[in-house]
Amino acid sequence: MTGFSDTRCPSVLFDVDKETELDASEYQRVICDIAAKAERLQSAGVNQTVEVQEAYVGWVMSRLNNALVPVPDPAGWQDHPRGENVRVFRHRMGSVEFCHLKFGSNGSIPYHDHCDSNGVMRVVEGSVASSSFNIVEQSSANMTLTSPVHVRLSAGDMTSFCLQRNSVHALAAGADGAYILDVFTRLNDDACCRYLQLQPPRKNGYVRAVWSQEG
Ligand SMILES: [Fe+2]
Repeated sequence: MTGFSDTRCPSVLFDVDKETELDASEYQRVICDIAAKAERLQSAGVNQTVEVQEAYVGWVMSRLNNALVPVPDPAGWQDHPRGENVRVFRHRMGSVEFCHLKFGSNGSIPYHDHCDSNGVMRVVEGSVASSSFNIVEQSSANMTLTSPVHVRLSAGDMTSFCLQRNSVHALAAGADGAYILDVFTRLNDDACCRYLQLQPPRKNGYVRAVWSQEG
């Protein structure tokens, strides 16, 4: 039994004016499809295998590819708990969290992982620099990471992570800021976000990190 929230597709998610009503309606269909697929995979008990996760995040990216992402009601935004100059709007459907992020000028989110989740990120406006690691091993005190991969993503670009790939990362927006949609799919009730502090690189190229605190 899980603690996942209701997966029913609500009739209205966003306040929209008449000009953007069709776009918002199409976007709502997309996120309802994603939540329904995640629920089917979870029910089938196959959502944590590498092959299924990679196919799933690829499918999520294809669904988001041409969707126009509306900006949620301003009243629902709050400061990101660990980000600098970042606002967040979270919306949950079943095991899927749709996380809208507004980065101000040079806004950033520090290194963190997404334990027991996979995810897709789409840049809607602006640009961000992303630094990602794979986890080699971890304990209750620290983790060992591969050398990071650094990429800059601009409006329209997408990236993904899953349990076995790029699940530790940090984001930093440029001077013009950025608007980003993250789609996180929880694979079980232990899914969480944990913040990290990186230690100096080791001789073999791996990076050691210690836990900061949950956020
Ligand atoms: Fe993240």
